[in-house]
Amino acid sequence: MTKQDKSFQADAGLGKALDLLRQPTAQQQPLPKSLTAQGIGEEAALSLLAPYVFGEASYLDSPTALAHMDPPTPWITWATSLWNARLNQNLLHPATAPFARQAEEIVMAWLAPWFGMQGGHMCSGSTLANLTALWAARDAGKVDQIIASTSAHISIAKAANILGLPYKQVATNAMGQIDPAKVSELGDLSNACLVLTAGTTATGVIDNLALVGKAKWTHIDAAWAGPLCLSEKYAGLLAGMELADSVAVSAHKWLFQPKDSALVMFRQLELANLAISFGGGYLAAPNIGVQGSRGAAAISLLATLLAWGKGGLAQRIEQTMSMSHTLAEALQQETDVILLAMPTTGVTVFRPTNISTEQLYQRLPAGMLSTCIVEGEDWLRSVAANPMADMDKIIDAIRKALP
Ligand SMILES: Cc1ncc(COP(=O)(O)O)c(C=O)c1O
Repeated sequence: MTKQDKSFQADAGLGKALDLLRQPTAQQQPLPKSLTAQGIGEEAALSLLAPYVFGEASYLDSPTALAHMDPPTPWITWATSLWNARLNQNLLHPATAPFARQAEEIVMAWLAPWFGMQGGHMCSGSTLANLTALWAARDAGKVDQIIASTSAHISIAKAANILGLPYKQVATNAMGQIDPAKVSELGDLSNACLVLTAGTTATGVIDNLALVGKAKWTHIDAAWAGPLCLSEKYAGLLAGMELADSVAVSAHKWLFQPKDSALVMFRQLELANLAISFGGGYLAAPNIGVQGSRGAAAISLLATLLAWGKGGLAQRIEQTMSMSHTLAEALQQETDVILLAMPTTGVTVFRPTNISTEQLYQRLPAGMLSTCIVEGEDWLRSVAANPMADMDKIIDAIRKALP
């Protein structure tokens, strides 16, 4: 006889979950101190948790949120995330994700050409995307060392460590771009993987992409700024990327996707896939990449691309770029502020001259700005990832916080 367990069926409580999402109110009640013998039921559990989950969240869509490479997500992805949780597809097996695997193929076929790549797969973040690309560089590209700048993300150092490859870091200019002269000084790169960053974590600058192709394998860590290639206005900033061997992009950054969502893409897909595939006896299709079981992040990305089109996505990226320019121009007017440089990819870095960076940071609303270190000095940093930001409010708050 079929078992009926209401916990696994669509229930009226789902409506309650949506009500709590729309109107997250109510007082926090204490959470049990330890695992209780009896549960309180789904609806009561949601009511108990909502004041914590919603009450103590950092709201990335707040009018003053402009601090991190973490965007708010469009509501269509809230819906697809719910669908994904209900279906719990596993992209590891064709049988457990018939449409979800297709969705990923569609998303890749639509996006990869804009990055100059043949295709690839999704994974849970650019840390993994970078590791996967460098694994392909080692085993398909036969490289025996990794070179990146001192501004490269820590995930490159982690990948080199995991892969057992020597890691050399090259000096940058004051903005954090790799110094091409220092790369030349390294001499023979015919067995090296050169990692260039498109949108460094601290200052958002793009390494000189004329360096693409100077080593045996070039990987571009475009975790942050990669999506600029979808904007006609800004794609030129990434000219040369199409000659790279691999590209990593975090979809949960400037593609406005819920975590965990990233793309690793290759110019010669088959060559790369051969090196990073394992086909255990129990698998109907080879397991490509680092992760085994993984979810259907592609469905949320596909839904967003369908809803917005390339134009809608580009419009939001351009809108956030213009927010960073507005902020930088306003900061240029302030006599007691040093602007590091005009932002290239929506990251604005500045510091006050008459109080410390930390003091100014403390005077601003939480979630408005973050901090970073550039050439040993503390700076304030804004990342324009929030299309809902109110620039007048943000600029006004900074002006008021300055002594
Ligand atoms: C340039 C760069 N690469 C890689 C990463 C790691 O990405 P993720 O957090 O998606 O693992 C980040 C994260 O901020 C980044 O800025």
